[in-house]
Amino acid sequence: MPSLCVFGAQWGDEGKGKIIDHLAADVSHVVRYQGGSNAGHTVVVGSEKYVLHLVPSGVLHPGKVNVIANGVAVDPVLLLEEIDGLVARGVAVGPNNLRISARAHVIFQHHRRLDALAERWRGEGRIGTTGRGIGPAYADKAARVGLRVCDLLDRDRLEAGLRVALAEKNSFIQAVHKEAPLELGEQLDVYGRLGARLEPFVGDTGAELRAAHRAGANILFEAAQGVMLDLDHGTYPYVTSSNTGVDGIPAGTGFPPQHIGRAIGIAKAYCTRVGEGPFPSEEHGPRGSELREAGHEYGATTGRPRRCGWLDVVALRYALELNGSDGWIMTNLDVLSGLGDVPVAVAYRRGGSRFETFPAHWSSLDGVEVEYVQRPGWTEDLTAVRRFEDLPPAARNYVEWVENAVGVPIRMLSIGPRRDQVIHRGL
Ligand code: IMP
Repeated sequence: MPSLCVFGAQWGDEGKGKIIDHLAADVSHVVRYQGGSNAGHTVVVGSEKYVLHLVPSGVLHPGKVNVIANGVAVDPVLLLEEIDGLVARGVAVGPNNLRISARAHVIFQHHRRLDALAERWRGEGRIGTTGRGIGPAYADKAARVGLRVCDLLDRDRLEAGLRVALAEKNSFIQAVHKEAPLELGEQLDVYGRLGARLEPFVGDTGAELRAAHRAGANILFEAAQGVMLDLDHGTYPYVTSSNTGVDGIPAGTGFPPQHIGRAIGIAKAYCTRVGEGPFPSEEHGPRGSELREAGHEYGATTGRPRRCGWLDVVALRYALELNGSDGWIMTNLDVLSGLGDVPVAVAYRRGGSRFETFPAHWSSLDGVEVEYVQRPGWTEDLTAVRRFEDLPPAARNYVEWVENAVGVPIRMLSIGPRRDQVIHRGL
């Protein structure tokens, strides 16, 4: 298998964790390159369920190298909790199979505080962030005042950097938000200790990946969130603060883009979104709750109920086109069993015009009306099916109809949370 990227082609939570875990068997490296602990990738191995936030999903396969590359915003508190939790469950995690970029930016306590305060400040205009400090940490990176993993390992640099950061952040926290400041000594102590624990894992992961490529490695780039949450190409400002598709890889890893062989999008057979922001095909009626319960659509990171709706061909085609995908994987097809006929969004209407291509130049999707096509539903349980031809005719028909409408082949179907619950269609 050549090096490839697996990305979310909707608003996140498409089931990337399971697919990446499935594909990880055939690669040597699995690389996270953007986002941070806002992600929650769920993987089921046998009777064990794992929710990974920062550690790449390849860690559940012995012998794979997992990389947290420079584009990831690393919260060392949560990362070490995650590593300790995996080790306690018998998963091997050490400097041989987990590498962390020295250049990755660090999320500190003050970033988490500022994330929560900014959301409170925005009131009705809030983004609905995960509260993990993602936006403030990436803002500091762009403003060139962030601290990186390499700074955690150097006590003097850490002290100097934190002193400057806290002087600024504390004055803001106190003057604007009228809250208590963070204490430098305490923060220094906590992050200094965490840095010492992370040190064995830290290196120049860009150089390591380039060397691995030269030696013939096949690398899987594991995106987090989804293309519609991409900082540049998503539904701004209701987005996350990183580039969530193939676009994030070169800058987020130091790996040359011409060596990325393929980009495979993941999309559910329906659609969900957490947090605020436009979601044209959202189902506001009781069928939205039915979808939520059938698909257990509650956030893996925050536990928030996800907003649910129908597959949106307009947005999905845009996401796949942006990433140059020659294939995609449809997940959660089993969830639609027994839910009746299935609406699919095929066009948007506004101001008397009809759009089949995603109107990315509009400042918002307010007032957009959605045109649906109803596809026949099915009642049969799909979770034991392993061959496409064994699916009930209506389910098969749904897949083929959607594939045709999107115009990009569906290479695999997922019909349950377990590793073996997939139907291959020639990946
Ligand atoms: P942030 O990434 O925490 O700043 O949140 C920004 C937006 O992205 C919010 O709407 C979040 O709900 C959403 N978001 C962030 N991470 C994920 C994810 O892993 N899955 C789905 N939505 C996410």
